[in-house]
Amino acid sequence: MKELKIFSPATVANVSCGFDVLGFCLDSIGDEMIIRKTDKKGIHITKIEGYDLPYEAEKNVAGVSALAMLEDAQPDCGFEIEIYKNIKPGSGVGSSSASAVGSVFAMNELLGKPYNKTQLTNFAMKGEALASQSEHADNIAPAIFGGFTLVKSVAPLEVIQLPTPKDLFAVIIHPQIEIKTSEARSILPKQVALQDAITQWSNVGSLVHALHTNDYTLLSKSLTDVVVEPYRSELIPHFDAVRQNALKHGALGCGISGSGPSIFSLCHGKDNAQNVAKAIKDLYSKTNILFEIYSSKINTQGIKIL
Ligand code: HSE
Repeated sequence: MKELKIFSPATVANVSCGFDVLGFCLDSIGDEMIIRKTDKKGIHITKIEGYDLPYEAEKNVAGVSALAMLEDAQPDCGFEIEIYKNIKPGSGVGSSSASAVGSVFAMNELLGKPYNKTQLTNFAMKGEALASQSEHADNIAPAIFGGFTLVKSVAPLEVIQLPTPKDLFAVIIHPQIEIKTSEARSILPKQVALQDAITQWSNVGSLVHALHTNDYTLLSKSLTDVVVEPYRSELIPHFDAVRQNALKHGALGCGISGSGPSIFSLCHGKDNAQNVAKAIKDLYSKTNILFEIYSSKINTQGIKIL
């Protein structure tokens, strides 16, 4: 096998209470990439469609993660990368992670699968670090493993795959403004009040339990963020109104997707997801900000070969 086409999915990081550790995978939006084995050594990005991104491998997240793998594998070949980008950079649904994951997933397949999913996550983190100036894996892990993931630690990297209740849907609204992850991180306080930390780790624990037990009521009660959201919600126009409206229409929870500006709602069942999507759409249509909205089943497979 010389060439592969893959679908690299968008993801939602943090999931309200789990800043930098929790994430889940979407299935209705993602990038496509073609990776080709070449006699010429090195990583060469030969095509980028969709958004204006650098072609130099060391300046492109897909290139940086690919170079990290190449340095470790030392194969007797190189790779060409074509990127068909659908996920807008800076949208909050793991655009950089999708690129970073796509190259290493496909290269691993073309090399005969020498690496496991955790090792792939490690390589992809190098690409993510270029984009956000921080090594976190809460978008990368769900893109690779699928479903919900918990990043127990990044050094050494330890990823725990969590179960996904089968009737869980996500609604994503993407206001058409850009928030750079590095900037959304720079506004966060370095210290957390003990009472807030107690609330937050209680929510992470109960959310994980809710996923294991299919307990939608407990899931709903756990989707609260008292640590990061109070700061970042200021960057997202009409965030509070969207959240209140989503909850009023039966969403289990609603919060900032990754570092924003996208906002996610988790819903029990497709009908509820459609109601919530309509309610948010009606509300946001009254603002002067352009937006996209979509619903997605949670993608339990993650990245895949097309
Ligand atoms: N956990 C990260 C953050 C996800 O919220 O900054 C965005 O890359």
